[in-house]
Amino acid sequence: MSAPTISLPLGTIPADIRNAQDYAALAPHFMQPSHYAYISGGSGYGQSVAANVRAFEQWAIYPRLLRDVSHGHTRITLAGEQHAHPLFLAPVAFHKLAHADGEIDTARAADATGTCMIASTQSSVVLEETVAQKSWFQLYLLPRREDTLHLLRRAEAAGYRAIVLTVDAPIQVANRRALAAQFQMPADCINVNLRDYDTTPRFAGNGPGESRFFQGAMRAAPSWDDIRWVMSETSLPVWVKGVLHPDDAVALRDAGVAGIVVSNHGGRSLDGAPAGLDVLPAVRAAVGKDFPVMYDGGILSGSDAFKALALGADAVAIGRLQLYALSVAGALGVAHMLKLLREELEICMAMAGCATTADINSGALLRQARRSDA
Ligand SMILES: Cc1cc2nc3c(=O)[nH]c(=O)nc-3n(C[C@H](O)[C@H](O)[C@H](O)COP(=O)(O)O)c2cc1C
Repeated sequence: MSAPTISLPLGTIPADIRNAQDYAALAPHFMQPSHYAYISGGSGYGQSVAANVRAFEQWAIYPRLLRDVSHGHTRITLAGEQHAHPLFLAPVAFHKLAHADGEIDTARAADATGTCMIASTQSSVVLEETVAQKSWFQLYLLPRREDTLHLLRRAEAAGYRAIVLTVDAPIQVANRRALAAQFQMPADCINVNLRDYDTTPRFAGNGPGESRFFQGAMRAAPSWDDIRWVMSETSLPVWVKGVLHPDDAVALRDAGVAGIVVSNHGGRSLDGAPAGLDVLPAVRAAVGKDFPVMYDGGILSGSDAFKALALGADAVAIGRLQLYALSVAGALGVAHMLKLLREELEICMAMAGCATTADINSGALLRQARRSDA
């Protein structure tokens, strides 16, 4: 394992960072190569990671002229809660892979920028220490219900304001880039939220004639019964993350969830799953205009965020880019990245003649050939 090539004095950000996306280019110089491979990689051959990036290329944004946007702002109300802007931090495991202070620094940056951070079940800092003013908690179901319930109660007691139940990763698919880089989880980077629970899988699926997927992982996978159970156990809003098919979106809306996150898990679950952006308009059409929909996958700029909002999202979440900024400059880097992203979104809105996010719709976009198709 070779060492990162650059480290900055505390409290410094590189002078040549002009855009949020610049953090993605710098991150490989600030992380262990195998950590970077684990974070940047996806499942299988990375088809869905690539699809997420390509999906944004097919849209251009129309500049609109002579519109008065001087009353403009980025505030949104989402499922009854006000947010200063529609940029969220997606749940991402093990921030200590990117920076020694891990999720503590990310939460500080979220607080400083009025951003809602969705803390992962698989954090490298305990959930009680990472709750910011506006934080949601991402829940994975544990093998035993009593443990899931205990985790849920801890999140409620700590002050998290919503639960995001991730249901799209029942099977762990190998990250080939991480394997090739011989990635191993470092000793100081453990799943601390779960250390008191029994995380041994309940089903192995290795009996005679059994499949470790059908009779193993999938027997423990989240079910509709689990979703109803989580909703019955908490008064917090329950979102469901990992939705791609419009029929699933409608069924979740009808089951009474607070909102859905359209996501292919950053291309880390089913390799070959569509880009969330490509299905977003159909999901929005299916659930209707008022049902809360968040989008994540491939967002690296304010114009990406603008496109997702135009295609039907009420808010967007940032995955890898938060770890890239964290690796470069800790809390300061994440706060700076979020500030840049918000300014980029404001620039797009202003120049597209949209004073508020409610003014952003698909009429703001022009479909064009994907660069990679040309
Ligand atoms: C290193 C890494 C760890 C992740 N861990 C989780 C997790 O613990 N829970 C979860 O719901 N999603 C997890 N995700 C998926 C993200 O929430 C999000 O869907 C994805 O990163 C968005 O794509 P982007 O990275 O291109 O922005 C993870 C993604 C990455 C890259």
